[in-house]
Amino acid sequence: MTTYCLHFSPCGSIKSYAMEMADAIDSSYVSFDLTRSDLSIPVLKKDDIIVVAVPVYGGRVPKVFAARMSRWKGCGNKAISAVVYGNRAYDDALLELNDILLPMEMIPVASGAFLARHVLHPFL
Ligand SMILES: Cc1cc2nc3c(=O)[nH]c(=O)nc-3n(C[C@H](O)[C@H](O)[C@H](O)COP(=O)(O)O)c2cc1C
Repeated sequence: MTTYCLHFSPCGSIKSYAMEMADAIDSSYVSFDLTRSDLSIPVLKKDDIIVVAVPVYGGRVPKVFAARMSRWKGCGNKAISAVVYGNRAYDDALLELNDILLPMEMIPVASGAFLARHVLHPFL
């Protein structure tokens, strides 16, 4: 069983949340930086666990995240999903994230929205 820690974190807050969550499950977790486009995607086994954390941009999940995530293929994996926002609102971003994961056969078993600094880095 491997715990994968997937984070899309241009300025670092989301990565900290994601790594804390993954470490609480399994200190030997494997980390993936989804701001990068050159990742080799592992073949998942059913008992692998996915921690995935992304920012809220304009109340939504970043489009580029959804495109990068579509390269992953789940097989009924348990997923822990999180959105991180800058204290305006997270709107439907957590719902949107779970709606991306479910058709990929990554089943959210716990989800949360977390606060961070409201950065202005335009990574869209
Ligand atoms: C283009 C852009 C749009 C944002 N939209 C929202 C928003 O709708 N609601 C909110 O509360 N925070 C918003 N934020 C703040 C980010 O969600 C927050 O700063 C980010 O999750 C920090 O993560 P990072 O440090 O890992 O990059 C926005 C930030 C940027 C750059």
